[in-house]
Amino acid sequence: MNMKKAITASSISRESKSETPDMVITGVGYELPSHELDNHYFARFMETSDEWIKSRTGISKRYYALPILGETTNSLAAKAALRACAMAGLDAAKDLDFIICGTLTPDEGMPTMACSVQKALGMKRGFAFDLSAACAGFVFGLTTAEKFLRSGSHRRGLVIGAESLSSIVNPLDRSTCVLFGDGAGAVVVEARSNPSGTPYYCGQIESDGNFADLLCLPAGDSKINTRDPRYSETLASVHMKGHELFKVAVRYMRKVVEQCLEEAGISGEQVDLFIPHQANIRIIDKLAEELNFPKDKIYVNIDRVGNTSAASIPIGCGMALAEGRLKGHETLLASSFGGGLNYGACLFTLRLGSGAR
Ligand code: ACO
Repeated sequence: MNMKKAITASSISRESKSETPDMVITGVGYELPSHELDNHYFARFMETSDEWIKSRTGISKRYYALPILGETTNSLAAKAALRACAMAGLDAAKDLDFIICGTLTPDEGMPTMACSVQKALGMKRGFAFDLSAACAGFVFGLTTAEKFLRSGSHRRGLVIGAESLSSIVNPLDRSTCVLFGDGAGAVVVEARSNPSGTPYYCGQIESDGNFADLLCLPAGDSKINTRDPRYSETLASVHMKGHELFKVAVRYMRKVVEQCLEEAGISGEQVDLFIPHQANIRIIDKLAEELNFPKDKIYVNIDRVGNTSAASIPIGCGMALAEGRLKGHETLLASSFGGGLNYGACLFTLRLGSGAR
């Protein structure tokens, strides 16, 4: 009798699991600012060189948004979002239920970037909020969106990573200013039934505040008020202990990637393309070596765009599509880390162009 009860309960739970919606990506868009800066630009006014920057970071150039031309984090995000909606086949004004933006450099403290994108898209419904997880903002955003879709409360939304890191680096600090660039990437996420047994989306996100001092931006208004006469500009810039951060980044990204693959029940061989956070080519190489991940399946664009923080992964996805590395039906892996520390990995599935079904 008890056995019968147990079998019935487990089959109900299996059935309801397969009926729980999963999440797929149906559109991808990205936008880079127009102003391109190569490494020689920095060598003109500080002690550095193209050779040092390339060999220690893998970066050859990056793009800076110029607000004077109307280029800001929010405008880049809105353009990326429109492209993602067009690719998905959605009417951005009507079809979306939510917008989640990962950013640490929105145009304004209030309203949020997400609300400004909502307005730019002509969207008059749903919810929109920014999420603060530094460079890990996009993976944190995707994993948050997945919860809304799996619960059945919402059907489709936008997840955006957008930054103007040029606005928060100290232009005279050679150990940080050469690393970062600006840009935005967006994806449309939609609920889909998944009878396959292998998840379309699987995310692992974690934080460790004990390493907060490795990467920080000290001026947050409640502690160091920017209106205080003792306030100094350098407090509003990124401070980084690059050497230590390098090691922790590799260790934590390896951990969450392994957890993610195990949770999804798939091996690295089943992944079509791995897009790691583009912070330093040596971090990417070390991570690949520790995971024993084949280099030809790792996407790299740090040479062309630098570290764009929360925008790094969706820009990578958009560029890989534009270059023909992706066709639109692949299984991808991504990993990221950033200030906090926040770090995460996710497995996600492209079903491009199949939006609003
Ligand atoms: N040009 C020339 N020399 C430089 C430069 C530069 N741009 N920057 C630093 N140096 C010098 C240092 O002053 C130091 O000189 P010293 O030996 O006389 O003191 C020397 O180069 C070596 O410095 P290290 O910091 O040990 O160099 P390292 O090989 O570690 O490279 C780097 C520095 C590139 C910052 C590296 O540590 C790194 O990439 N760390 C991780 C950074 C990261 O992940 N950032 C992103 C975090 S999350 C996010 O995306 C926001």
